[in-house]
Amino acid sequence: KTRDSSLVTRCEIGDSLEEFLTKATSDKGLIRLLVCMGEALRTIAFKVKTASCGGTQCVNSFGDEQLAVDLLANKLLFEALEYSHFCKYACSEEIPELQDMGGPVEGGFSVAFDPLDGSSIVDTNFTVGTIFGVWPGDKLTGVTGRDQVAAAMGIFGPRTTYVLALKDYPGTHEFLLLDEGKWQLVKETTSIGEGKMFSPGNLRATSDNPDYDKLINYYVTEKYTLRYTGGMVPDVNQIIVKEKGIFTNVASPSAKAKLRLLFEVAPLGLLIEKAGGFSSDGHQSVLDKVINNIDERTQVAYGSKKEIIRFEETLYGNS
Ligand code: AHG
Ligand code: MN
Ligand code: MN
Ligand code: MN
Repeated sequence: KTRDSSLVTRCEIGDSLEEFLTKATSDKGLIRLLVCMGEALRTIAFKVKTASCGGTQCVNSFGDEQLAVDLLANKLLFEALEYSHFCKYACSEEIPELQDMGGPVEGGFSVAFDPLDGSSIVDTNFTVGTIFGVWPGDKLTGVTGRDQVAAAMGIFGPRTTYVLALKDYPGTHEFLLLDEGKWQLVKETTSIGEGKMFSPGNLRATSDNPDYDKLINYYVTEKYTLRYTGGMVPDVNQIIVKEKGIFTNVASPSAKAKLRLLFEVAPLGLLIEKAGGFSSDGHQSVLDKVINNIDERTQVAYGSKKEIIRFEETLYGNS
């Protein structure tokens, strides 16, 4: 479906999520699915805020059950997808097999999600988040990140935000959860410029990946500002909000790739690229990688164009 561009209404700061979605797409099923996910994110935000983290896991009560917050988030998201009536299959980092959600194949969607990214840093009260990608129809493998019709993250920090990108609408959009429970558009990002800020994941790999070591030394020598929390949701979100920077998570023989292409890397790839940034696995955009299996892992970088060129050249260039 292509939209007649003369019919496109520009969104405005202050729009509600529903107003924004109505302007951005004519697909009622997609709107319903994204609104239902917003409801789940609101509940997860509350559960994360009120979790008790005394023991080894952060838990919250859910009816009669006590559940670790990542499992609780997982459950709420599956329920929201089923309730939307537009989800065919869903799978998550916690349940990495396709679950039939009862929605149609034609006009419906399949959704992959990481219910709580950074679940090991909930106890320290660092920002954590939900990541999800939406694909048309019934396929989550044999497809690429570029096939996504939408991707989003829910961010549970000092503020709760829903950061959303649609394949057919320019920009990446940040919605703030207001006191009355509504999502309001507060920021639109359409370009990512230059700026010396780096977020270096999996530094263990520098011990036996000399090229990654060289890249890190470049940032240090050039006096880049270090901004890394260990949660890729806040670490990648800062690039979208500050409109500059680079996030890297590089592998080596001893420190293998950990981040999942389907649940984490491809959705954040769409969010970054719709914001005007670039992504790479070292050779190509992560959006061009075919997702061969649900649990596939990859190394990744997200950032401005110049930073991604430097990343690829330092890791795989001839210099
Ligand atoms: P998870 O969804 O299992 O909590 O994964 C968190 C990820 C990602 O957010 C972060 O960039 C990476 O793990 C950090 O890994 P290490 O702490 O192992 O370096
Ligand atoms: Mn994760
Ligand atoms: Mn997780
Ligand atoms: Mn996990």
